[in-house]
Amino acid sequence: MDIRTTGGPATAEEMAAVDGLLGQPEPADHRVVHGGHTTRSHRHLLLPVLHAIQDRAGWVSRGALEYACRRLSIPPAEAYGVVSFYARFALQPRAALALHVCDDIACMVAGATPVDGAIRVPCLGLCDRAPAALVERAGADYEARQLAPFDPTGDWLNETPTHQQPQRPQSKLLRRIGLVDPDSIDSYRQNGGFAALERARSMGPQAVIREVTEARLLGRGGAAFPTGRKWQSVADAPVRPHYLVCNADESEPGTFKDRVLMENDPFALVEGMAIAAFATGCDKAFVYVRAEYPLARQRLENAIAQAREHGLLDFEIEVRRGAGAYICGEETALFNSIEGKRGEPRNKPPFPVQVGLFGKPTLPNNVETLVNVLDIVLEGGGAFASTGTKESTGTRLFCVSGQVLHPGLFEVPMGTPLRELIELAGGLRPGRTMAAVLLGGAELRGHSRHRGDARVGRRHRLRRHR
Ligand SMILES: Cc1cc2nc3c(=O)[nH]c(=O)nc-3n(C[C@H](O)[C@H](O)[C@H](O)COP(=O)(O)O)c2cc1C
Ligand code: FES
Repeated sequence: MDIRTTGGPATAEEMAAVDGLLGQPEPADHRVVHGGHTTRSHRHLLLPVLHAIQDRAGWVSRGALEYACRRLSIPPAEAYGVVSFYARFALQPRAALALHVCDDIACMVAGATPVDGAIRVPCLGLCDRAPAALVERAGADYEARQLAPFDPTGDWLNETPTHQQPQRPQSKLLRRIGLVDPDSIDSYRQNGGFAALERARSMGPQAVIREVTEARLLGRGGAAFPTGRKWQSVADAPVRPHYLVCNADESEPGTFKDRVLMENDPFALVEGMAIAAFATGCDKAFVYVRAEYPLARQRLENAIAQAREHGLLDFEIEVRRGAGAYICGEETALFNSIEGKRGEPRNKPPFPVQVGLFGKPTLPNNVETLVNVLDIVLEGGGAFASTGTKESTGTRLFCVSGQVLHPGLFEVPMGTPLRELIELAGGLRPGRTMAAVLLGGAELRGHSRHRGDARVGRRHRLRRHR
């Protein structure tokens, strides 16, 4: 297939980026025609390839796109439709050093100011340490660093992040945070890690699903769907393979709970995924982590590798990087994104449990949902259901930011009054009076979903429209 765009040839750097991911191209053999299944089987690599180009060159030139299309046998017009859909990919030349400064609500409340030459971006999921920024340096040794709190007048280029989430021993989901070394499987095991997986394996898949159903756990990703019911549907689906997709796209302004879990307790998510895959017969799993979470991604990749080395995983887990599209948090848009397509939601039905990723039965679950499963397996579903309210069991992670004394992540039983949550965050900052509390998704950018987050601010800030 002769595939051409109007761009010049790819540079050696761009080709190296693509070949680094796909391997060296085979010598051309014009007697062999690749198409059909071979072509489709590569399509899902389009986003990883685009990331590789963007990381290496700082933008995606027409030449680089053309080369990627040739290597993946994708028509350029289609690939252009994909690359132009995602905010992360720059289609015009850009400096190797890119500073992304958050201008969303918590950062505005914290006094974020415009910076010359910086790219203004929506919430970076660092609202507890606002104002926030993300710096990327393109090249063979690509690097991305979160900067929060971000001081544009300081030496941010050489800043080393030092923030650590404070330990909260009374909590459940957060109990290992600040206690375990997120880079060490030994540390995780010394703190009870992988006991739930062992127990799940001794119980058997059906008994695990029974406990999750008895726990009446509702999904923590926003739609509050009963987790046990979803797991049972996937387990019962006759078509193979089954896929598990962990949704770590967390892009709702003001929300950072999944980041805190992944950065500080990544093995817990790996363990939760292993239990979910075991119970529902998933052969392969993906974790789709938003592009703006480089540390979470790195820690998860390390946790997966260590768990595999220790023989704890009998299925494959692949970490996929989002590309700056809020809508990809919606599960079917996320599937399209993994498949190398524009992140556009699909019609339902069919539902993902029957026809999901790559058209196969799929279990999509949020990070927090999966981490809850550890305690359900260890304590039993009945014990889990004794916390929270009748309709909504267990504890819940709430992200509190804005004009409170101690912004952060708080775990409280469902049903806790908002006042208590604000008090947990230290109450209002001195000299402030309560004007408004913004719950769930901020409307500033037209998002209107409800999630477990609260922002406390001054009225004129909250009313700001763009
Ligand atoms: C616009 C939109 C954005 C969403 N963003 C997320 C997200 O960032 N993370 C998430 O887990 N679920 C998100 N969801 C919900 C998912 O579609 C899905 O319900 C969820 O991942 C299922 O997991 P759960 O059952 O564990 O909650 C979003 C839904 C919509 C409509
Ligand atoms: S990081 Fe700026 S609003 Fe969330």
